[in-house]
Amino acid sequence: MDMSEHRPVKDIDAPNIPKATPTLPDAQTVTEVEHYTDRLFRFRCTRPPSLRFRSGEFVMIGLMGDPDPETGKQKPLLRAYSIASPSWDDELEFYSIKVPDGALTSRLQHIVPGDEIILRPKPVGTLVHDALIPGKRIWFFATGTGIAPFASLLRDPQTYADYDEVILTHTCRELGELTYGAKLVEDIRKDELLAELIGEGFAGKLRYYPTTTREQSAKMGRITDLMRSGEVFTDLGVAPLCPESDRAMVCGNLAFNLEIKEMLEGYGLTEGANSKPAEYVVEKAFLD
Ligand SMILES: Cc1cc2nc3c(=O)[nH]c(=O)nc-3n(C[C@H](O)[C@H](O)[C@H](O)COP(=O)(O)OP(=O)(O)OC[C@H]3O[C@@H](n4cnc5c(N)ncnc54)[C@H](O)[C@@H]3O)c2cc1C
Ligand SMILES: NC(=O)c1ccc[n+]([C@@H]2O[C@H](COP(=O)([O-])OP(=O)(O)OC[C@H]3O[C@@H](n4cnc5c(N)ncnc54)[C@H](OP(=O)(O)O)[C@@H]3O)[C@@H](O)[C@H]2O)c1
Repeated sequence: MDMSEHRPVKDIDAPNIPKATPTLPDAQTVTEVEHYTDRLFRFRCTRPPSLRFRSGEFVMIGLMGDPDPETGKQKPLLRAYSIASPSWDDELEFYSIKVPDGALTSRLQHIVPGDEIILRPKPVGTLVHDALIPGKRIWFFATGTGIAPFASLLRDPQTYADYDEVILTHTCRELGELTYGAKLVEDIRKDELLAELIGEGFAGKLRYYPTTTREQSAKMGRITDLMRSGEVFTDLGVAPLCPESDRAMVCGNLAFNLEIKEMLEGYGLTEGANSKPAEYVVEKAFLD
């Protein structure tokens, strides 16, 4: 077929027609945006048909940076983001911080449906089922935006097929920062397929344990302190973690990750990786 017949015809008599906006490299289109607080929002975008990923992995996303003052050239400004949607979803979802003077998020927070973002289609990460050996109960320990990879894993049927019990703990400073997770759990319980896998009874297989540290809520305190005191185990009616039955995935700030890692080792669990599956895995929610 001669493709030349499909080339647009250049109209030399119409020099003032504005140029079409150049499309970003690896561009995806934003389809939905929802803001929770002045520091947190979620957005969805189109998914490249060729993008395959494992629930819990992260990719590099971003926007075009400002033009170089000397050359005028623009370079992509990219940051690591956990994919918050499950691997079966037609679209991609991201849960994001808004850092007021953050190079990317000071701009990303203003995206609206129809805008384009850059998405480098190379998913990686350790918070994947493949990095853990089989167990009976899985704990997802998150602080802040660290809940994002678990929003993916909690919507993946494999999570409920692999474990008898799934416990999500989420610690934030303030109540408003729990909204995304609370809505996520509510939607999962309403989803026909996932609800059947989770089952009924006292919350079924899925348990949700949100806590705040700086604003009054039903459960106050850092999850690490609540584990040390045993309060979380009493509240949930489960025994403290042990290597025979429990598996854990951790995603939060660096201090939290280090503290809980030491606690998990204390319970007798060993750290796993894609290349060497074991009993728990850790990933940073952001660099600091
Ligand atoms: C593996 C990995 C996965 C990540 N996944 C996500 C994600 O799903 N959602 C997300 O919002 N961010 C995520 N991040 C952080 C993200 O890469 C950026 O740092 C963030 O988008 C801010 O970008 P920025 O350019 O605006 O500011 P940056 O210059 O990157 O950060 C400025 C400062 O803001 C603070 N900060 C950055 N990110 C966060 C955060 N998420 N929560 C609280 N404080 C933060 C830190 O103090 C940091 O030094 C992830 C980071 C890593 C390493
Ligand atoms: N969240 C906000 O309202 C807010 C507002 C302005 C600026 N910031 C800045 O933004 C950055 C990130 O804030 P963030 O609130 O998203 O994340 P964060 O500081 O990582 O805190 C998230 C949650 O993790 C808890 N936590 C921190 N260290 C822990 C540890 N070692 N063990 C157990 N739990 C731990 C915190 O409890 P504690 O409260 O006890 O620390 C908090 O409940 C910080 O640099 C902060 O100064 C945040």
